[in-house]
Amino acid sequence: MASAPTRDDKFSFGLWTVGYNGTDPFGGPTRNALDVVHVVEKLADLGAYGLTFHDDDLFAFGSTDAERQTQIDRLKQALADTGLIVPMVTTNLFSAPVFKDGGFTSNDRDVRRFAMRKVMRQLELGVELGAKTFVMWGGREGAEYDSAKDIRGALERYREAVNFLGQHVIDQGWDIRFAIEPKPNEPRGDILLPTLGHAIAFIDSLEHPELVGLNPEVGHEQMAGLNFAAGIAQALYHGKLFHIDLNGQRGIKYDQDLVFGHGDLHNAFALVDLLENGGPGGVPAYDGPRHFDYKPSRTEDENGVWESAKANMRTYLLLKERAAAFRADPEVQEALAAAKVDEIATPTLNEGETWESLAADRSAFEDFDANAYLGGKGFGFVRLQQLATEHLLGARD
Ligand code: GCO
Ligand code: MN
Ligand code: MN
Repeated sequence: MASAPTRDDKFSFGLWTVGYNGTDPFGGPTRNALDVVHVVEKLADLGAYGLTFHDDDLFAFGSTDAERQTQIDRLKQALADTGLIVPMVTTNLFSAPVFKDGGFTSNDRDVRRFAMRKVMRQLELGVELGAKTFVMWGGREGAEYDSAKDIRGALERYREAVNFLGQHVIDQGWDIRFAIEPKPNEPRGDILLPTLGHAIAFIDSLEHPELVGLNPEVGHEQMAGLNFAAGIAQALYHGKLFHIDLNGQRGIKYDQDLVFGHGDLHNAFALVDLLENGGPGGVPAYDGPRHFDYKPSRTEDENGVWESAKANMRTYLLLKERAAAFRADPEVQEALAAAKVDEIATPTLNEGETWESLAADRSAFEDFDANAYLGGKGFGFVRLQQLATEHLLGARD
């Protein structure tokens, strides 16, 4: 049963995840703050390879330069001592009162300029720490009231900001890319770029789309009732899966940020199968960090925080093992063939086929027995899904 996590598994955690103190809209902290050095040491011990953070997670908003530098130096020392890396950083453009109407898309132009400077500062720090991805989660980029926000204007300002930051990276010759994280709502009533699909269309409109991809989060697509594994497949199809936020969510409700797998387990199985076996010839389809963006429930004490951190990694590895067994099972292979899953790779038209030749092909229409599909020619998708379920339950080896 799944071995312990190692650095090769590329598990990373946000400082704000294990560091979450339990505050929610109805109650204050239930846990004490965790020091970054302690977090780095614990994560390294548990087998993670990376720590990610917002600027404000490491040094409080409004810190002096000296306070900021002290925290950066302490982090650097902890990284050097443990070998943990910082694969991704991001900026907090949502907690401070100044961002109450957003950062890049606040109606207030002074706030937008301040947001750009705050991001530039964190981007530079990320590069200094070796981060390869800069996440942009626009939690406050949105509105509650339709007449309060000119959506087209806001998208243009969003575009201006991302174009500007992309040019900044190019001018500096930095090796870092941006990953936009969609979310439909919370904390705003409606957030700009609410789903993967919206974000992909937006990225296509940028001056340097190659610099910008996605950081999809399991729970965020599920808050919109969408199929996360299917969304990830589309992100991969467009070459836009730059990073990923793994967690758990139980249906269409507030953002739960549960442990990975503690929500829609079937979809988590499909996701891990896709990430690990969905590349050409069954190799991994994604080789970036497996980043957990979850919140240890406020019912837990510090021991529960580390138990939940371990649970994320263990569930991922168990699902990886189950997905490998699923792929290797001859009955699954036979069911996949019977379901014609591979036939989707065959183009619908013949090589060089024209509309005239298709129109002349009697086998495609006049002689085609469409009635045979009534009562016959079932695909057996349910059998396939049951085989997946049995592998997921560990009932087939
Ligand atoms: C959420 C978001 C955030 C962002 C993170 C990066 O749960 O609403 O995932 O956690 O990912 O703050 O900016
Ligand atoms: Mn979330
Ligand atoms: Mn996230």
